[in-house]
Amino acid sequence: METERIVSAWKRPDDWDAETSLRPRTLAEYVGQDKVKEHMKLFITAAKQRSEPLDHVLLYGPPGLGKTSLAHIIATEMGVGIHTTSGPAIERQGDLVAILTSMQANDVLFIDEIHRLSRSVEEVLYPAMEDAAVDIVIGKGPGARSVRIDLPPFTLIGATTRAGMLTSPLRDRFGVISRLELYEAEDLQAIVSRAAKILGVAIDDGGAREIAKRSRGTPRVANRLLKRVRDYAQVRADNHISHGVATEALGLFEIDDNGLDHLDRRILVTIQRVFGGGPVGVESLAAAIGEEANTIEDVYEPFLLQLGLVQRTARGRCITSLGYEYLGISPPEEMGGDAK
Ligand SMILES: Nc1ncnc2c1ncn2[C@@H]1O[C@H](COP(=O)(O)OP(=O)(O)OP(=O)(O)O)[C@@H](O)[C@H]1O
Ligand SMILES: [Mg+2]
Repeated sequence: METERIVSAWKRPDDWDAETSLRPRTLAEYVGQDKVKEHMKLFITAAKQRSEPLDHVLLYGPPGLGKTSLAHIIATEMGVGIHTTSGPAIERQGDLVAILTSMQANDVLFIDEIHRLSRSVEEVLYPAMEDAAVDIVIGKGPGARSVRIDLPPFTLIGATTRAGMLTSPLRDRFGVISRLELYEAEDLQAIVSRAAKILGVAIDDGGAREIAKRSRGTPRVANRLLKRVRDYAQVRADNHISHGVATEALGLFEIDDNGLDHLDRRILVTIQRVFGGGPVGVESLAAAIGEEANTIEDVYEPFLLQLGLVQRTARGRCITSLGYEYLGISPPEEMGGDAK
């Protein structure tokens, strides 16, 4: 199952304890995502100078890249409180109204998985985001009337892995929309070194670099691999993570040089063998390997695309010449060996 993979970007129950201690607390501790950070710093400073709440922020991007962390950091940097909930957790309009009316002025309301809000709950958000007010209906039948209640000004921060599933009225009400990108290896290396320090593990640059390289551009995966390599180092290598120790440990866990595991390889092999190299639609691919289509789109594909092993075209997913090379197969002649 996807959640059992050591390199899965999705959160697993055993991430909990470490995630709270490893989570960066300030913008300065938040590694990478330079553009997003620079924009946020600017908007936060400006809002604070005006003593206003920050504009509503939508954070989107693949799982494990730091959306939840950034939402908390924004509240900390603004010096305001944060209330956290998630799309599926808010069942009725009244639940959301109760949260909104209990907040202090300028607080942050963080809604994770905001694409999973029900339509009726979402409708409460429209006037809340636009006019800091909610309309509630009092009474039933012909005597029912709608009453507007003013809310304290607030900032909504929404997080989603699927910005495309947001309705446009909701999306349009966010003043700031930021996409988080997969991390570069140097940034992941800094994240691994920082996490090792917090966890009290000895690691050298070579060890951190090796873990970073195999982390699929994802801090959550980097931290998880670090924890497993730490176990290995503790039992077999004197508690010190060097380049060699990291390489041996990750090899033992069957994560290859690029951070791909057997499921990634199965995707590549399936596109190549079953679908003649593609193009293949994501639904057919999902059926062939027995995974959910959205798991493929959210979790596997971003990294395979980043490595240039597959390509997304209007007609579906194709394997690239690099992908063929990775599988140790020569690409078909028409690719000429330079597709990337
Ligand atoms: N920029 C960063 N610098 C340092 N550590 C980070 C950074 N981003 C994420 N992390 C680490 O990765 C972990 C996962 O990040 P987070 O929970 O914020 O991701 P997410 O995008 O909210 O994931 P999901 O989509 O599953 O909700 C954090 O606990 C933290 O340890
Ligand atoms: Mg999150």
